[in-house]
Amino acid sequence: MTLPAILSMMICTVLYSSVTAGRGGPQSRYWRNPQRDLKFGTVVETMLDPDRYHKYIRPDINTGRPVYVNVSVSVTGLDRISDADMEYTVTFTLHQSWKDGRLDGTKSVRGYSQILTMDGSLGNRIWVPDTYIVNSHTSFIHDVTTRNGLIRLYPDGRVLYVLRITSTVSCSMKLHKYPMDEQACKLALESWSFPDEDLIYKWDKEERCGAPGGSVTGMDNVVL
Ligand SMILES: *[C@@H]1O[C@H](CO)[C@@H](O)[C@H](O)[C@H]1NC(C)=O
Repeated sequence: MTLPAILSMMICTVLYSSVTAGRGGPQSRYWRNPQRDLKFGTVVETMLDPDRYHKYIRPDINTGRPVYVNVSVSVTGLDRISDADMEYTVTFTLHQSWKDGRLDGTKSVRGYSQILTMDGSLGNRIWVPDTYIVNSHTSFIHDVTTRNGLIRLYPDGRVLYVLRITSTVSCSMKLHKYPMDEQACKLALESWSFPDEDLIYKWDKEERCGAPGGSVTGMDNVVL
């Protein structure tokens, strides 16, 4: 039994992370003849060739190292803070980034330097962390007019995955100083299936609860 990978937001946050997963495929034979004028769609399709890309295999499984997922949260709205139900509703953009060597275009196309921004539906075709909100009662990803998600592929295989989420989250409030109370509510994120040998979440920047310039931005303190 392994401990799940965790990170902890002020709205203090927490993050976590098994994979059975076999060994990665053989070293790829793709792009033996790199062409400088490969169309970007072709680059992506070549990298995602089902013979070499298996989305259920996490990055770095060959090396035995865990995949590091950088996380930051930008809070865009906070409402329905309920002391009766001990919960609050928060809307935020969740930024997750990691490196997937299989998506490193520079390994195969000399001088490849394209940053590709695509809509989040690419998330159905590549490995993405199975992050969930531990203390959430209900959550949804915004989908007007389309799913509010994006994936940006950097030439070296870094992937940025952004989602806009609204979640109603439990918060155990201490009300003995009410109405002059101050609450620190947690938003806890963890991986549904990966233990920390496989996946490690890290705050994008050094995180101190409520400190400016950290990985949680938008609203640090809310006064009601
Ligand atoms: C994660 O954050 C560290 C420290 O800021 C940075 O050096 C690294 O490049 C980041 N990784 C990714 C995949 O963005």
